[in-house]
Amino acid sequence: MITNLLRAVPTALLRMIVLAVVREAGEHNYDSSNNLLDQYDFIVVGAGTAGGILAARLSEVSNWKILLLESGGPPPPESYVPAFNIALIEGDADWNFRPRPAALQPQGLPGPPFRSSGLTDLPLLQVCPFPRGKCLGGSSVLNWMMYVRGNRRDYDNWEAMGNPGWDYESVLRYFKKAEGYRGKRNIHTGSYHGRDGPLTVEDKRWSSPLLTGFLKAGQQLGYQIVDPNGPEQIGFSVADMTQRNGLRGSTAETYIKPAAARPNLHVAVNAHILFDENKRAIGVRFQQKGKMRTVRARREVILSAGAIGSPHLLLLSGVGPAKHLQQHGIPVLVDLPGVGLNLQDHPSIFGLAWTTRKGVSISIPRLADPKSVKDFIFNRQGPFTSPFGVEGNAWSLAEKGDPYWPDLQYLFISGTPALDSGLAIWDLIGYRREVFFEYFGHMLGRDGFSIGPMLTRPKSRGTVKLASRDPLQAPLIDPNFLSHPDDVETFVRGIKFALSVGNTSALRDDFQAIFNEKVLPVCDHEVPGSDAYWSCYALSMASTTFHPCGTCKMAPDSDPYGVLDHNLKLRGVSGLRVIDASMMPLITTGNLNAPVAMIAEKGADIIKSDWGAPVDPLP
Ligand SMILES: Cc1cc2nc3c(=O)[nH]c(=O)nc-3n(C[C@H](O)[C@H](O)[C@H](O)COP(=O)(O)OP(=O)(O)OC[C@H]3O[C@@H](n4cnc5c(N)ncnc54)[C@H](O)[C@@H]3O)c2cc1C
Ligand SMILES: *[C@@H]1O[C@H](CO)[C@@H](O)[C@H](O)[C@H]1NC(C)=O
Repeated sequence: MITNLLRAVPTALLRMIVLAVVREAGEHNYDSSNNLLDQYDFIVVGAGTAGGILAARLSEVSNWKILLLESGGPPPPESYVPAFNIALIEGDADWNFRPRPAALQPQGLPGPPFRSSGLTDLPLLQVCPFPRGKCLGGSSVLNWMMYVRGNRRDYDNWEAMGNPGWDYESVLRYFKKAEGYRGKRNIHTGSYHGRDGPLTVEDKRWSSPLLTGFLKAGQQLGYQIVDPNGPEQIGFSVADMTQRNGLRGSTAETYIKPAAARPNLHVAVNAHILFDENKRAIGVRFQQKGKMRTVRARREVILSAGAIGSPHLLLLSGVGPAKHLQQHGIPVLVDLPGVGLNLQDHPSIFGLAWTTRKGVSISIPRLADPKSVKDFIFNRQGPFTSPFGVEGNAWSLAEKGDPYWPDLQYLFISGTPALDSGLAIWDLIGYRREVFFEYFGHMLGRDGFSIGPMLTRPKSRGTVKLASRDPLQAPLIDPNFLSHPDDVETFVRGIKFALSVGNTSALRDDFQAIFNEKVLPVCDHEVPGSDAYWSCYALSMASTTFHPCGTCKMAPDSDPYGVLDHNLKLRGVSGLRVIDASMMPLITTGNLNAPVAMIAEKGADIIKSDWGAPVDPLP
């Protein structure tokens, strides 16, 4: 664990510096907590990617009054600087959850605290940090800013599962409505992009020389360089960035900030919702600055507290599996067995690493170079404009089923987990210290890269459950990664593909890439390089890619585990919708921020049309 002191001093210093050079970072002081009304038309709970968009869109109807409630405060100043992305994990805008496998949930013991569970002696990375944004902008303030929509088949499949209106052609228009594409690269796929939306998407402003090696490697393996947000996703690509003028473009910046100027939108921060009541959601009760407050909703309450927060709030309010609620002494309002089930995420392996010749990867000295600092301050260019090490993505052809619906994605990072010489990265990923030093010890501080295979549609399912009826206790999160044997097998394929990328002449010869041949200590009972070895490797090294979703899934009435209908209304009550990553019936084939933005844009239009408000024509 990074100790609080080790963190607090540099953080305070960093914030002062950032505030001095990034004007935008200090402009989030529009908290209306001191003059809240007793009643609003709509109350949106959670100001993350989805909640920020919903509040902004609903407040376009000038005779509706909207309240946006958020547990955290304004985005931390350093979040504006893309390269500080990893410094945000376990910072004060992070909920600091730690997942806890079911096997370690003894009945009757209190749940894990919001910081660390202290379970550091587990062989698996099941207890890795599990960052979730806690501030205006939510996880869009912590994320790595890659703009990825997923595969058209993801959405056609949602519709085929019994959810009308969510097919690719329909959602494409909402992706375009959200997007403000300002890049120059995707010329041939221009018709797939939106230009007038608030969510600005820019070309990467800085890349390490290794990125060209990665793209060339893809071509040497027979893949094309593609715009994964165009017609097809298979291929190698440069990451497009959800940013604005070289700074992070969170939904706090792109949606909430401009909308907060409207008199009909109130934003209240540092609120923590406790519960709402009745078969009709009539309002919310929350604690703020030590005081309990109640605010009523004339039309609807919308939960946008994220894939962990939304099921947590429903369970606390008596909506969920009856038996589980009774165990915690919570009166059952609606027995909805699906709440908190169907937790999906993308497990990734961040440990496949290569060393290279000097001077080609991202590094701390390179970032600290006065030229980089000047370039950022005066031109909004250079390595500070890029999330640390994030370069590109690839999707390989699937071997089973539809080849164009990939089951693996690969994140290319121009650095290894040892690039900071063992200072902090190992801890943020969740490695055990001894394992880290034994496996990566010989590459501390050296130039290199990593290729992270990620399962795009894993078969394993996890859960979010109550640890206690105390709303301030973190829920129990069990990602249950790799519990399905097919997921391990897919990872073995993904590891082999990653190794073949690293072994192309584009990387091996041009950059002198050498794979870390050390045997992973916990797998030394297997023959190195065998399938059994790589299975063990995957089971030991997989961790979250920070994409939890699915915990309040949208499904037709015939599915007993459905929680929402296709208009995102909660089953069994009225006046309540859930609109965020938790609605996904099946996770999408890529990072989740753009899909969640699409869901919120579409959700806002569904609400407007249900209440007879004007709906803008779609692009
Ligand atoms: C480290 C990291 C890297 C990522 N990288 C990428 C990436 O590169 N590309 C990409 O597309 N996606 C990425 N993601 C994922 C993406 O950002 C999320 O999937 C997306 O932001 C989820 O949006 P949401 O609205 O569902 O939830 P969130 O954005 O998490 O919003 C939920 C909000 O609700 C608030 N809340 C919760 N409980 C309560 C309560 N009781 N009362 C009041 N408020 C509450 C939270 O504080 C939060 O602000 C990343 C995520 C992380 C954490
Ligand atoms: C790398 O590729 C070369 C041929 O280009 C091959 O001889 C060698 O076995 C490969 N190495 C690995 C580890 O796959």
